[in-house]
Amino acid sequence: MKQMQRNIQSTPTLPDSATQELLGRTPIPIDMQSIREKMQGKVVLVTGAAGSIGSEICSQIAACAPGALIGFDQAETPIFHLQRGLAKEFPELAFHAEIGSLTRFEDVDRVFNRYHPSIVFHAAGLKHVPLMERHVFATVENNLFGTCIAAEAAAANGAECFIRVSTDKAVLPTSVIGATKRAAELALVAMQKSTGTKFASVRLGNVLGSSGSASTVFAEQIAAGGPLTVTYPAMERYFMTLRESSQVVLYAASVCQGGEIFVPELGTPVKVLDLAEKLIRLLGREPHCEIRIEFTGARPGEKLSEHLSLPQQALTSTKQPEIRTISSAGDLDLYRLRDFRKTLQRAIGLHDRKRVVEFLTQMVPEYIPAPEHLENTAATGASRKTQ
Ligand SMILES: NC(=O)c1ccc[n+]([C@@H]2O[C@H](COP(=O)([O-])OP(=O)(O)OC[C@H]3O[C@@H](n4cnc5c(N)ncnc54)[C@H](O)[C@@H]3O)[C@@H](O)[C@H]2O)c1
Repeated sequence: MKQMQRNIQSTPTLPDSATQELLGRTPIPIDMQSIREKMQGKVVLVTGAAGSIGSEICSQIAACAPGALIGFDQAETPIFHLQRGLAKEFPELAFHAEIGSLTRFEDVDRVFNRYHPSIVFHAAGLKHVPLMERHVFATVENNLFGTCIAAEAAAANGAECFIRVSTDKAVLPTSVIGATKRAAELALVAMQKSTGTKFASVRLGNVLGSSGSASTVFAEQIAAGGPLTVTYPAMERYFMTLRESSQVVLYAASVCQGGEIFVPELGTPVKVLDLAEKLIRLLGREPHCEIRIEFTGARPGEKLSEHLSLPQQALTSTKQPEIRTISSAGDLDLYRLRDFRKTLQRAIGLHDRKRVVEFLTQMVPEYIPAPEHLENTAATGASRKTQ
């Protein structure tokens, strides 16, 4: 499986020993037997299958003898590599690569109608915080509307469960990415009330070695002789390994009741500076003298630290003690969700970034947007350049 991951990832991977050392804790041990039992013989669909998390989820599922595995993604070449890697590693697997966009109802409808998956993992999404601060419309369309379209298709086709990959950035969001991730969590909780399909979100920390992650960028910077770029010395994050994060998502499918947000216990957050220094040493160099570290300052939408849940939120245990669920996950109802989707759609149609962000703050009241998002931009050239 390790070899296959190397084949399907476009970014350099870290040695396993390095990943473990960087994590600074033991990964959450997941009982794969119950996951195997859940997946065996089932038709399973993974959105964002060609991405870092999606492709790892695919390879974990492939090892559980599913009836069929469908990888849905809009990225042609990465899914081509995924298909080749899976065919080599799992020659018996019935794998179907499907190209399409989650934001186009017809693409999603076609695939769900064709395969009628029982289990759906929704790992597609946009994730780069500073970049997507400048692309508000695409982020709302992808992370919120895309989730709703996929969840509706799963429910309409009688799927057993629909598990979505969320992030700690959804907690007290200060970015469009974080706000849309929280909005998608709320949307699934609202939609749960009208369907027999079990919807759930799983909040992950930063995944080491995933495309564009801090560790991946640092590894590239070290290979180039430095310098490493860190925003602030105090910046800290929760980290997970790729395998751990995928297994936590699979675990959610094996225990979900519908409407939960799963929250893994990830110990103490790690200072990004410590991670950078450790990685330099692990790759045989000396931080600060051989490889310089530069502090670049805050980037749009980023926070100094993230939280997986709020202190006042009640968490319920699952049979895996390190994974809990948030009990009162939100109070958005289906009618208000429909209204928000319509009004957001209309504001996007008018290229009105300010209104889009205002509606997002109504949907996610704890969202604190960047002040420039609330400047008037409706139907101007500026709004199209910086959406
Ligand atoms: N990597 C992390 O550290 C991390 C942590 C927490 C949560 N997440 C979330 O997990 C998800 C996957 O993360 P990743 O690291 O694998 O990202 P990635 O960029 O490697 O993969 C995302 C995949 O989704 C696909 N995709 C995006 N929009 C699509 C659309 N509209 N239709 C079809 N396919 C689409 C992309 O082509 C890509 O292959 C994201 O939503 C991200 O926010 C990631």
